[in-house]
Amino acid sequence: MALNMTFRQLKVFESAARHLSYTRAAEELHLSQPGVSMQIKQLEEVVGLPLFEQIGKKMHLTSAGREIYAYSKSIGHLLDEAEVVLGELKGLQSGRLSISVATTAGHFVTRLLAAFSQRYEGVTISLDITNRASLREQLEANRPDLVIMGQPPEGVEVDAEAFMENPLVMIAPSNHPLASEKQLELSRFEDEQFVVREKGSGTRSAIERFFSEHQVSFHTGIEMSSNEAIKQAVEAGLGLGIVSIHTLELELQTRRLQVLDVKDFPIQRHWYIIQRKGKRLSPTAEAFKTFVLEQAKEFIRLP
Ligand code: PGA
Repeated sequence: MALNMTFRQLKVFESAARHLSYTRAAEELHLSQPGVSMQIKQLEEVVGLPLFEQIGKKMHLTSAGREIYAYSKSIGHLLDEAEVVLGELKGLQSGRLSISVATTAGHFVTRLLAAFSQRYEGVTISLDITNRASLREQLEANRPDLVIMGQPPEGVEVDAEAFMENPLVMIAPSNHPLASEKQLELSRFEDEQFVVREKGSGTRSAIERFFSEHQVSFHTGIEMSSNEAIKQAVEAGLGLGIVSIHTLELELQTRRLQVLDVKDFPIQRHWYIIQRKGKRLSPTAEAFKTFVLEQAKEFIRLP
C-alpha cells in the first residue's frame, strides 16, 4: 500500500511536530492556522491514524506521529542536500570538475587547468592521467566529466571534438649523423631500433599505422610507458624515438634532442575533448569544455 502523502504535508507536519504547536508552525511557514490544521488533517487521513493528541492544554505526538516525525526529518535533510547538489550543478556554488587524460596530454593539461581555475575560482578539480585502455573503460562507465585523448576510442558512443594539433616527430640525440640531413626517406629507418611507448598507447598505434601505410617495416626496441623515459633513452643512445611535440619543449630548447627532418613527417594527429554520448555536463564541465575548445591554443605553445 503506497502512502499518498505530499512533501508539503510532511513539511507542515514536521514544523508543527517540532514546535508542538499549529500556531508556531503557521508563523514559521507563513501560513494561516487553519491552513496548517488542514494539511495535518489530510496527512492523518493518508496515514489512517491520529498524529497529535491533546492532553490537557498540551499537544503531544502519538506514536504514529513520532514515527512520521522521524521520517519527515530525514526526508527534509535529503531535500536540503538535493538543493545543495542541484545548486552546485547550476553553478551557483563552486563546482567540481573530473577529467581524465591520456599520458601524453598530461604534458600540457596542467597549464590548461591552471588557467581555468584562475578564471573559475573555487572549482575543485580531479585529474586522472592514464592510458587509452583505461580512458575507454572510464568513458564506457560514464565516470569522468570529460576526457582528453589523441583519438576517440572505438566501440564506445562518444561526442568528440578536436581542439588542437598533435604532431608526432622523430627524435634523435643531438649528435646523431642524420641530424643534418634534409627530407630523409622513411625507408632509411627500416633497420633502426625505436624506443617506443607501450601497446595501448595512442602514440604507439599511430606510429604503427603510419609505417604500415607507407609499407615500411617498423622495429620496436625497448618499450616504455612514459614519454620522459623515452626521451632519456633516446638521449642516451638506446635508439630513435617518435613522440608528440608537446613533450619536447625543454629538450629542444636545451638542444639535448633533435627533431629529424623525415619525409611525410610529422605524423599529423589531433587532441580531442570527449564525453560519453548523451551525457549531461554540469555547468562547470561545460565551461571547461568551452574553454578548451576556444582557448587551449593560447595557453599551449608548440615548440
Ligand atoms: P598516448 O597519447 O596514449 O600515447 O599517451 C594519447 C593518445 O594518443 O590518445
